[in-house]
Amino acid sequence: MCGIVGYIGTKREAFPILVKGLQRLEYRGYDSAGVALVNGNHELSVYKAKGKVADLEAFCADKDITGSVGIAHTRWATHGEPSSLNAHPHYSQSKNLAIIHNGIIENYAEIKKKLMNHGVKFLSDTDTEVLVQLIEYIQSKKNLDLLTAVQVALHQVIGAYAIALLDKRHPDTVIAARKQSPLVVGIGDGEFFLGSDASPIIEYTDKVVYLEDGNIAVMKLGEDLKVVSLQNEKLLPEIKTVDIDLGQIEKGGYPHFMLKEIFEQPECLKNCMRGRINVEHDSVKLSALIDYRSWLINAKRIIIVACGTSWHAGLIGKQMIETFCRIPVDVEYASEFRYRNPVVGKDDVVIAISQSGETADTLAAVELAKEKGAFIYGICNAIGSSIPRATNTGTYIHVGPEIGVASTKAFTGQVTVLTMFALTLAEAKGTLRHNEYTRIVKELVEIPEKIKEVLKTNEQVADLARTFTYAHNFLYLGRGFSYPVALEGALKLKEISYIHAEGYPAAEMKHGPIALIDSDMPVVVIATHNAMYEKVRSNIQEIKARQGRVIALVSKGDTTVSKIADAVIELPDTLECLEPLVATVPLQLLAYHIAVCKGKDVDQPRNLAKSVTVE
Ligand code: F6R
Repeated sequence: MCGIVGYIGTKREAFPILVKGLQRLEYRGYDSAGVALVNGNHELSVYKAKGKVADLEAFCADKDITGSVGIAHTRWATHGEPSSLNAHPHYSQSKNLAIIHNGIIENYAEIKKKLMNHGVKFLSDTDTEVLVQLIEYIQSKKNLDLLTAVQVALHQVIGAYAIALLDKRHPDTVIAARKQSPLVVGIGDGEFFLGSDASPIIEYTDKVVYLEDGNIAVMKLGEDLKVVSLQNEKLLPEIKTVDIDLGQIEKGGYPHFMLKEIFEQPECLKNCMRGRINVEHDSVKLSALIDYRSWLINAKRIIIVACGTSWHAGLIGKQMIETFCRIPVDVEYASEFRYRNPVVGKDDVVIAISQSGETADTLAAVELAKEKGAFIYGICNAIGSSIPRATNTGTYIHVGPEIGVASTKAFTGQVTVLTMFALTLAEAKGTLRHNEYTRIVKELVEIPEKIKEVLKTNEQVADLARTFTYAHNFLYLGRGFSYPVALEGALKLKEISYIHAEGYPAAEMKHGPIALIDSDMPVVVIATHNAMYEKVRSNIQEIKARQGRVIALVSKGDTTVSKIADAVIELPDTLECLEPLVATVPLQLLAYHIAVCKGKDVDQPRNLAKSVTVE
């Protein structure tokens, strides 16, 4: 978590670039923000404010914000409460250096103690301040230049970091380094940009270098980008061209990114399928599955590792792969998998699902599975992020940058890729009858249009939200492919509206949750016309018998459930295995509108961050 931005050049003022960059990275954390600038007189100023980037801007209104060199940070607190004191950048004791940091220095307490014994005084409770003080201590004690001091210091720290440093005595240079936390350098004409991802950079240049773990970038005016290792070996930076349209990371007339991203889903899923589904031949090709065909068809087992919403997509993937390909699939929380010495080996394929491609637990699970000899397949959104780079192969979901903290289009993108994966693998293994395969492919292509139809219920869902905003608890029920949808609906609601919500397999209700039901309890039930319809209908009767209030997602034209439910949202018919792609959408809208009615900060809910780079 935390967002990092940097700029060094001669032609432009740094402050506006840094602030705009921070706004784009605010999804990574937003409990405080700060900026360090070197002005024309070589003075280094640090300004910080508790709260969002807008609070920092207001704070800086009467400050000297001139200068064409600077670094800036938006924070998601780990060590030390959210406050302006703990906000980054942090000065070194002499105030010659300023640092910003994303990650955690695990052995900070031990280093801090040693430095304090040497008379170093600390102002904040953060692990980051320890790092800048250590660098300065090494620099002055051993009379080293900044780069060497950084290398020596980073050898001593345990943990994860993306850092950027300014030294006011060398205002023509910014130094940045990374281990486990992402960092991208943008290369302009006589200027450099820095970002936790490419979004603060793309407005100015499309040439970027994704720093590798253990690399240090030296951005010096008048020189080419220099990249070295911690051991000071010179490395050749690989310059890539990024292809992100600025419109993709702006709100485009919607009041919130979340709503924009919900409405983008038809287009996103078309992009996700483009070049992969051949509509004339009703066939799917994933290049990763062609290149690594034998690994994948010979897999004895598939293990899916992910967190949060991506884990829910994994649960749908499991049902799809098991049904179509007859390979056993386990779905694991990455955070559990990595710490329990799992049984995994060379006959296993591990699929890591992650929107950001940076989730620390998922990345660690990938590394562990790799060590144990498994073949690793990534399903990610952020191009060039850490997880895709750590995998053997994979498929990008191509839904464009997701800015709203609550994941929406990434979920449907992940489910779409998992569907294409299962179909391609099933075809290669010969485990799915051809007519069945064709039927699913044909229907998958229709899904974007069906989602468009579902989006027309937006106003109806907004009305429903007004009716149910009073609730303190919600239950979400579904069976089969709809069970993960119930989990996802509940997660969406709790994360943005702070209403407690639980997702359950509908039949499990009788084994405990039914005790919660009374006339105050809204229960969202996915009750479409599929194999489980009759059973789910009985579950609804059980809820009504206890005065629960039922919001049912039903198939278009349903007349039975509609009579007993308090409210219904109609969904277009589709195949059962593809229902999650349409049924999730009204649940995203419901959570969105309830949060709006409650006046919550939809795009940046409290305590959350988009990219969870701490474990
Ligand atoms: C929920 C949400 C989180 C993420 C989880 C994993 O809306 O966004 O639960 O799904 O933090 O993140 P990624 O997919 O980036 O690994």
